[in-house]
Amino acid sequence: MEKKNGMRIRAALLGLGTVGGGVYKLIRKRKEELPQRIHQADLDIKKILVKNLAKKREGVPQEILTDDWESIVNDPEIDIVIELMGGIEPARTYIRQALEAGKHVVTANKDLMAEYGGELLDLAELHHCDLMFEAAVGGGIPIIRPLKECLEGNEITEVMGIVNGTTNYILTKMTREGMDFADALKKAQELGYAEADPTSDVEGLDAGRKMAILASIAFHSRVKFDDVEVKGITKITAKDIQYAKEFGYTLKLLGVARNTGGGIEVGVFPMMIPASHPLANVNDSFNAVFVHGDAVDDVMFQGRGAGEFPTASAVLGDVIAVARNLVYGCCGRLGCGCYRNLPIRDSGESKHKYFLRLVVEDRTGILAGVAGVLGNNGVSIHQVLQKPAVNGVAELVVVTDQVENRHLNDALVIFEQMSMIREVASVIRVYTVKTQEN
Ligand code: NAP
Ligand code: HSE
Repeated sequence: MEKKNGMRIRAALLGLGTVGGGVYKLIRKRKEELPQRIHQADLDIKKILVKNLAKKREGVPQEILTDDWESIVNDPEIDIVIELMGGIEPARTYIRQALEAGKHVVTANKDLMAEYGGELLDLAELHHCDLMFEAAVGGGIPIIRPLKECLEGNEITEVMGIVNGTTNYILTKMTREGMDFADALKKAQELGYAEADPTSDVEGLDAGRKMAILASIAFHSRVKFDDVEVKGITKITAKDIQYAKEFGYTLKLLGVARNTGGGIEVGVFPMMIPASHPLANVNDSFNAVFVHGDAVDDVMFQGRGAGEFPTASAVLGDVIAVARNLVYGCCGRLGCGCYRNLPIRDSGESKHKYFLRLVVEDRTGILAGVAGVLGNNGVSIHQVLQKPAVNGVAELVVVTDQVENRHLNDALVIFEQMSMIREVASVIRVYTVKTQEN
């Protein structure tokens, strides 16, 4: 491998919003020392693509701003394209054209990588280009390259964790300060954590996309967003959070991906997690990812999952990695690792513990009726709590033992038809550590 000394590496930023702005400022801040970190290469931003050229951009020279993509893709001096616009189009087309032009790409775009990651990684390989996307999962947390490199010697059977900063911030505010959902979401948006459309955060879609990316890398088999079962936090109430505490649990939005041997199981759900579990204490916009490998056992990665500089940290790390590869002429080493074609397991077959909150009539025989329906459908009760009745209506909170989803669903269908049960108010999974039996 021949090292090219004194290289001049030029990059273009596509997008100058929260993350693009952060990357630009971070590169300026590191300007003096960057050459020493990349084998004396000179790295700089030559052009920045924006949508609205008239917008005021403090600290950015007007002459490097453009709204003309062609001027970037056709510029032979530009080696690296850093895509930070978000969304599917035109990001997908621009990344394809950049790779076809032999340019290396760094992106933070999980929407795109979850849907078209396979296609884009194949294209990068074809053109011997790097395509890096560390910031697409977990903001500033290093997780993609650690999975692809440091943990590559393992058979990974589980990747799980908190992968959305907005919802973790909201749940933290609801838990600690009793804030209501709408106020907490507003604060998360003001802090720049939420996506342009917060639906994708609060409905679990953003976390679902990140889990598709993580599962694909961890299990060496392509998992698409459509394969991920997703449930968000919009229906979570202060009561669920309060009762979770009473049972010794903390409520978190968790992504869980498992290679079960019988296929891949992957989903995002609000889940109760024992208050003693390390993830229960990951708060605010922090994210954390647990990985279980046969050799390493458990490893946890934790850090800021969103925001200007944490995300810029991951993006610049990728840019520096590409620059080093350019200096040594070894780009394209980390291509698509999906050499398996594992099935996605039907969610009805998976087993979980559940927290059920039932609003019931306050009269004799209710508890026996509920227990009977659960028992007849093979759902064993782990814990039960009855809250004092108000106006003839009480709340019954049940935590089940491990049960196959389809059995619980059968019981829930019967509950819906029972007049003594006014409402099945909450059905929330309880996280349990994977064992041979479940
Ligand atoms: P943002 O603040 O909305 O910024 C988007 C930028 O892209 C803006 O500068 C916009 O230009 C530009 N842009 C959008 N469409 C364009 C088009 N068609 N042509 C040219 N420029 C266009 O978004 P962001 O929060 O920085 O997110 C960027 C990416 O990073 C997304 O993929 C997101 O999922 C990902 N990400 C974000 C975070 C975070 O904490 N925010 C964390 C991890 C990953 P104008 O300025 O002219 O409007
Ligand atoms: N909206 C995302 C989050 C940004 O809240 O985690 C980081 O991907």
